[in-house]
Amino acid sequence: MVARNEGRASIAGSPRAGTDMNRFITIEGVEGAGKTTQAARLADALRRDGHDVVLTREPGGTELGRSLRSLLLDESSLAPTPQTELLLYLADRAEHVERLIRPALERGAVVIADRFSDSMIAYQGHGRGVAIETVRGLDDFARGGVEPALTFVLDLPPEDGLERIRATRSGDRLENEDIEFHRRVRSGFQAIAAENPERVAVLDAREDVSTLAGRIADRARAHLGSSK
Ligand SMILES: Nc1ncnc2c1ncn2[C@@H]1O[C@H](COP(=O)(O)OP(=O)(O)OP(=O)(O)O)[C@@H](O)[C@H]1O
Ligand SMILES: [Mg+2]
Repeated sequence: MVARNEGRASIAGSPRAGTDMNRFITIEGVEGAGKTTQAARLADALRRDGHDVVLTREPGGTELGRSLRSLLLDESSLAPTPQTELLLYLADRAEHVERLIRPALERGAVVIADRFSDSMIAYQGHGRGVAIETVRGLDDFARGGVEPALTFVLDLPPEDGLERIRATRSGDRLENEDIEFHRRVRSGFQAIAAENPERVAVLDAREDVSTLAGRIADRARAHLGSSK
């Protein structure tokens, strides 16, 4: 099949041959759960094992995405409606998948994303109240068939995560949402984990950084070792 047709196939929602999605790992959870800390630790561990690792995040994994990130999260930007917010995140994802994640997987790299589609289901769906089927349908279009094979949800009471953030910096727009919003988001992640027990591992994010890093590395190594 020529490249042009393969591109069309991906827009229709099926991955191209050669995209090894077994190597796509995501880290999810509420504000301040430790996602960025653990994503970096996992990237270090897998690089030490000899893997080519691409560490990235959403929103903002690409140049265009970084502009979208500041529109979405800076307190100085006008607050988008829930629909606009969802569409901006989707634009960020579509750009991220096609420009960074898919090419990295195609060359055989391990990709670790600090937030991905599950955050959209949890925040825009459970948190903001956009119908989950709507979020899923739009997300399928934006991902073009690329999906993680292994996801870690770092779970903790949202108060604890927000407290960690407030101890170190001033909050962004999402961090300044009310606590009920963050509770819905947490329940959303728990629901996603319950629906996807093979893909999603839930970890108690109140454990210390090194203990968590060890658990995550063990699980990721077992996964990568057993995947083709
Ligand atoms: N397991 C842990 N125990 C205690 N503190 C932690 C733990 N993991 C991370 N922290 C601290 O909590 C704060 C938030 O961590 P981090 O930025 O990794 O979280 P995050 O989930 O990426 O947050 P955000 O949702 O804002 O992106 C940091 O100050 C970090 O050092
Ligand atoms: Mg972070």
